[in-house]
Amino acid sequence: MILNLPLNIPALSPASPQFINLYTDAVPGQAPGPVQELSEGLMAAAASVSPKYFYNALGSKLFEAITALSEYYPTRTEAGIFGASHAQIAQTLADRGIHHPCLIDLGAGNCAKAMALIPHLQPRQYVPVDISADFLKEAAEQVQSRFPALDIVGLGMDFSAGLALPDEVQAHDRVFFYPGSSLGNFHPEQALQFLQHMADPAQGRARGLLLGIDLVKDTATLEAAYDDSLGVTAAFNKNLLLNVNQLLQSDFDVRQWRHVALFNAAQSRIEMHLEAMHALSVRWPGHTRRFEAGERIHTESSYKYTLGGMTALLKQAGFRQVRHWSDPQNWFAVFWAAV
Ligand code: AVI
Repeated sequence: MILNLPLNIPALSPASPQFINLYTDAVPGQAPGPVQELSEGLMAAAASVSPKYFYNALGSKLFEAITALSEYYPTRTEAGIFGASHAQIAQTLADRGIHHPCLIDLGAGNCAKAMALIPHLQPRQYVPVDISADFLKEAAEQVQSRFPALDIVGLGMDFSAGLALPDEVQAHDRVFFYPGSSLGNFHPEQALQFLQHMADPAQGRARGLLLGIDLVKDTATLEAAYDDSLGVTAAFNKNLLLNVNQLLQSDFDVRQWRHVALFNAAQSRIEMHLEAMHALSVRWPGHTRRFEAGERIHTESSYKYTLGGMTALLKQAGFRQVRHWSDPQNWFAVFWAAV
């Protein structure tokens, strides 16, 4: 019986993770598919592309490289918080009767954060979810070889379009794991809606949420984290255009675009843009978009919260018990929000 096997002892015949790819183009009756969404965003007066389009196979690797940069403090700060608090976190869940959760890892990427947490939470099932399906599949295989007895169901899925999970995902003791401050990439109204969805037992059917959130701090630290000296974040930003070229059959030339990252204090968000270095036109089937020199495409907002602001948002979303752990500088926080 899976539960009785210690997670770190190899099983006799290593299992392989189940993998279900639900990420397709237009799904009839649902949200617009990538082609329509990208086309509309690029034709708008203030052009934009959703940050979810960063994450093709190369983009996922570039993001992994970002997390190793000295300027990009969120990943190591969050890892430090989990490292210092995993026993308390596990106890907080146990206090609510959650002993072997179904751990649903949203935007799992390389699954590194969950791999550090799994030995402490001892999940009954691990469900990594990511839009970058091929990258996730490989990562799920690595998790499986590290924890051969763990039941793993990988999901290739755009969860920003909804959280309807297939029947293979266990219905009881679901705990959403949403680390890395990815919630900050939603606009606050969308973040509230997303949280409301998770807090609604009829929808997400979850017992709670473990959430990593980046906190407001000085502008220089924030801007350096999104405009690093090696230019990895610039490459990550420009690679979005290569992904768009593939999805839309467009002809963006990345050498004509400049990476811009700035902290918009009024909105409490880092903004990333791509700025046209000179006047140019981009074409894709049925469309031409002209950009003037200096005109920008908004590619990402990364909202920074206060401890009080996020606690209030989680309560507004319907979570009952909210607590947090943070680092000594209060740069980052991990929240537990119980349904
Ligand atoms: C995934 N997300 C939380 C990252 C962030 O910090 O907003 C994406 C990122 N963009 C640039 N660097 C990292």
